[in-house]
Amino acid sequence: MCGIVGYLGSRNSTDVILEGLTRLEYRGYDSAGVSLIENDELEIYKKEGKLNNLKSLLKKKKIQSHRGIGHTRWATHGEVNDFNAHPHATSDYSIVHNGIIENSQELKEFLMKEKHTFNYQSETDSEVFLALLDYYFKKNNNFLHAIGEAFESVRGNSAFVLMNTKENAIYCVKKSAPIVCGLSENITEGFISSDPYALVGFADRIYFPEDNVITKIELSSGETSINFYELHGQESPRYRLQESSKNLEVSKKGQFEHYMLKEVFEQPILIRKLTDFYLNDEIGIEILKKVTKTRPKMIHIMACGTAYYAGLVIKGFLEDINRIPTNVYLASEFRYQNPILNSGDLTIFISQSGETADTLASLELCKVNGVKTLSILNVEGSTLYREVDNNLLIKAGPEIGVASTKAFTQMCLMGFLFSAKLENFSDEQILSETHVLVERIDHILQSTDIIQNVASSIYRHQGFLFTGRGNHFPIALEGALKLKEIAYVHAEGYASGELKHGPIALIDDTMVNVAFCPPNLIDKTISNVQEIKARQGFIVTIGDKSNSELERISDEFIRLDFSNLEFLTGVYSNVISQLLSYYIAKLKGTDIDKPRNLAKSVTVE
Ligand code: G6P
Repeated sequence: MCGIVGYLGSRNSTDVILEGLTRLEYRGYDSAGVSLIENDELEIYKKEGKLNNLKSLLKKKKIQSHRGIGHTRWATHGEVNDFNAHPHATSDYSIVHNGIIENSQELKEFLMKEKHTFNYQSETDSEVFLALLDYYFKKNNNFLHAIGEAFESVRGNSAFVLMNTKENAIYCVKKSAPIVCGLSENITEGFISSDPYALVGFADRIYFPEDNVITKIELSSGETSINFYELHGQESPRYRLQESSKNLEVSKKGQFEHYMLKEVFEQPILIRKLTDFYLNDEIGIEILKKVTKTRPKMIHIMACGTAYYAGLVIKGFLEDINRIPTNVYLASEFRYQNPILNSGDLTIFISQSGETADTLASLELCKVNGVKTLSILNVEGSTLYREVDNNLLIKAGPEIGVASTKAFTQMCLMGFLFSAKLENFSDEQILSETHVLVERIDHILQSTDIIQNVASSIYRHQGFLFTGRGNHFPIALEGALKLKEIAYVHAEGYASGELKHGPIALIDDTMVNVAFCPPNLIDKTISNVQEIKARQGFIVTIGDKSNSELERISDEFIRLDFSNLEFLTGVYSNVISQLLSYYIAKLKGTDIDKPRNLAKSVTVE
């Protein structure tokens, strides 16, 4: 969360930084700002709201600058306004920050005791770091040392990008927060970002500094150099070099009105691609073989948000197909549950971004306990990717819509492939399931008008209960989350059988029940729907087209074809939720790709 871009080179830095920030806007969009060196002076431009506000401001200025840092903010400390937007600066140096300084108040008091005067301009914790930098710089007149000393004093996960007016350089330092640095092919330009995605097409050599390493990119006589230092100033070997970012791509919306819709439509191709990679490509076959060689006694899954719901779907596969007891934990809770981890257990971390702070914190705990770690992950090269024993990449490509869609489908599918291979399913068995899934999702995508019509008949209702049983229960949870995220209406996911234990009190004619009806548990599910219907709730069922009872009891019946699908009926039904939320949000006129208050990559705990 929070997008960061730093640039140094011959181009106009505003253009490069704004292009990078545009790609990273999904990381936070409460405000945006840049600090640029213009004629050796440090200038700051920042604007509350989406990046476009800043772009309009900068358009009016004729800026010529070859060094700068920029930021899109997801507010943690201090409300959303121009003052609290980053960068924060003195007349000599500026910083942008991603993360939280947990001891900011303590540090402020320390500076006061030291009689260090500082003219704070914001309510942010980030600016305390600037004050600290100022304090140490005034003491030793060495920017590198000042960064090291200031960074040693802060608690919590953070990444900072910094520059000063004196040196033709940009710096960064980080702890448990993502940072990537890059140089252009001809080494005339240097870049720093919170996400490799911002550097696609710009940087050819990508460097990942480790925690507590200061990186300095400098430009001298037309050439950039990159150097790494420990916090006390000695040179550091602690970084990883990746030769190229060419395997990354920049996602464009194309003919679609929103990234979210585009990403929903990509799913059939991606399902084919993933299955093909793990069943037909030598590299994929080897990876899956390696991770399914030993049968774990027990599996623990850690994840957040949509990835957590994918974890619940995968638990279903592991317990049904493999009979391996599986726990699924919200990563933010895992540490506080005093988890029981034994050797012989396997821990799986599911994440689209690979940067979610809570998921990474749970990984740390598992590593300390010496258990085996595996990821189900989208972003190659992310922190999670680097920290686990083995990775199962879900190959969804960049997911830009803040509400996760295709990544969920690919996570579930990856879990299915893992589970099926662990149980020695034949490729034919697996392919017969995935081919049918692709064909059925294609069919949904060809008739979205049906879902649009349902959306128009329910979007004015006040509340939504998504219900499901068995392997459709996690789908109900995910469906409710999707609707909340992008349409800003109250929605809850419930196990169908649980409604009568409380939530049924909410039912009246203002409520909608979106009922997922799994073919194997249909009778009991129908009874639950009847209970809601009897209390005037509006009934939308998603079930097999052949079921005439569903036809009879529903206000709206979304017909699916579950024939020849054994394990992936939930994943298939979920595409209906994705589209239903999308069209409801569209009717409500919300900002679908960048819903309020959210960010895609949540790097604070
Ligand atoms: C945020 C996003 C969700 C996502 C969750 C976990 O809350 O808004 O869409 O599911 O983080 O992210 P991850 O990258 O770990 O899958």
